[in-house]
Parts: sequence; C-alpha cells; structure tokens
Amino acid sequence: MADLHSFRAVLFLAALLLLVGASAGDVEGKNRKVDVALYYESLCPFSAMFVVDNLAKVFKDGLLSAINLSLVPYGNARVKDGKISCQHGSEECFLNTVEACAIDAWPDLRVHFRFIYCVEGLVVDGKRREWESCFGKLNLDPKPVTDCYKSERGHQLSLKYGRQTDALQPPHKYVPWVVVDGQPLYEDYENFEAYICKAYKGHPPKVCEGLARPTPIVMEVAEAGNRVSYYNSGDIRFKPDEEDHANIKKVLPADDD
Ligand SMILES: *[C@@H]1O[C@H](CO)[C@@H](O)[C@H](O)[C@H]1NC(C)=O
Repeated sequence: MADLHSFRAVLFLAALLLLVGASAGDVEGKNRKVDVALYYESLCPFSAMFVVDNLAKVFKDGLLSAINLSLVPYGNARVKDGKISCQHGSEECFLNTVEACAIDAWPDLRVHFRFIYCVEGLVVDGKRREWESCFGKLNLDPKPVTDCYKSERGHQLSLKYGRQTDALQPPHKYVPWVVVDGQPLYEDYENFEAYICKAYKGHPPKVCEGLARPTPIVMEVAEAGNRVSYYNSGDIRFKPDEEDHANIKKVLPADDD
C-alpha cells in the first residue's frame, strides 16, 4: 500500500505544480490577457457608434475572456488652469464625467460597460438628455454616480483620464482611438477584434477563426476616413450622416439579462 500512497503523493504534487504553473501563465505567458483601451468622448458620434455597434460584440462572442478592456472617457478635451473644455461643449464634459463616475462606482467592466453602452446608445439615437433613464433600465442605483459627478471626485476622475490620454505615445489624433497592447489601430479601429486575436497567445476564442489576420500597421492611413473626430477640428458639432445612423445595430439588449 506504501506504493499507492507515494503514487498519490506524486499525483498530488504534479497537480499542484500544474495549477501554480497555469496561474503564473495567466499573468505572464500564453493566457495573458490582451490590453485593449478605448480613448473616446461621450458625444462624438463615431465613438458612440463604436461602443454600441462594435465594442459591445466582445460581450457576446467570447472575446471578453481574452482581453483586459479599459474605457477612457476624455477624448479631445483639454485642460486649462484646472478647467476642462470639451470638443462638443460642456454637455460632453458632463457626460464624460458621468461615465468616469460610472467606471469608478462599478469597477466591474460588465456593469459599467452596460451603463456606458446605454448612454452612448441614447447619444446615437439623438436622445442624450435621457441618459438618466439608464439607471432604471439597468436597475442600477443612481446615488454613487450622482454623488460623484456633483462633487470634486468627478472632476478629479476626469482630470485623471485627461492625464492618461495626454500621456499616450504616440499621442492620439482623433477619437475613437483604440489601443491594443500599446499599439494604436488608427483608422482600422473597427477591426479591433482581429488585432486582439493576433495578439492573444492562448487558445483563440472561436470568433477568431472567422477573422482575417490584420497586416501590421506600419503607417497610419493619413486623412483617409471621416469616421473619426479630429483633435484639431475646433468646436464643430459632428453629426453622423443618415446612412451611418440607419446602419447602426445595437448589439446588447437594453435591459440587463
Ligand atoms: C488591465 O489594464 C489596466 C489599465 O491599463 C491595468 O491597470 C491593469 O493592471 C490591467 N490588468 C491586468 C490583469 O492586466
């Protein structure tokens, strides 16, 4: 019986080593999550459409398990003497802060993304003033977010996102600005899933099978498209054209399921 005992001990040790190895692997090795960051501003229609139409897909198609997603609601805003001004005016600064407060109040991505998805869905629909309906729709307590944006906390969070945005290397030129493992995707941002699949070293989620591998971005496509809001475009109010608006597909259902 001594043999069986030592056999068991060996098995146990082997299993333990495997476990330790696997968790170390999650951080360092092949199962390391791909860092994905979205730099955006709340009233930029291209940012809103990206959140609603593209980014939300990762919650359905299995890619979420492969990424560490962060949202940075600041975009093309600027700080002068501690005061923030936004590309689409003070309403945008306000909603950026509301979204920063949502991330702070609900650190769980699944929760704050739902909220931001809901608000940006209203922006796409031209109903941004109804943003508060998102609390009720998602059954979320408005208090932590309300307390935050009405206090210095909200302002500080926005300044923090401003510092994070201004520290980007290379600097962002427009929004939405999607960065995958430190590499901006420039105007190819809508293909972000292909870049995630390429960067992910673990067993690829099924959705990756259907995605063409992107060619490495060597140079940005300068001035190529009009699906972005430029940093230096002043205070012009952007509106998605009719066609964009008609093509928008909401990916997630309105209520939390
Ligand atoms: C996820 O990204 C955030 C922000 O970039 C970073 O602070 C955090 O350490 C990352 N988490 C993991 C598990 O990689």
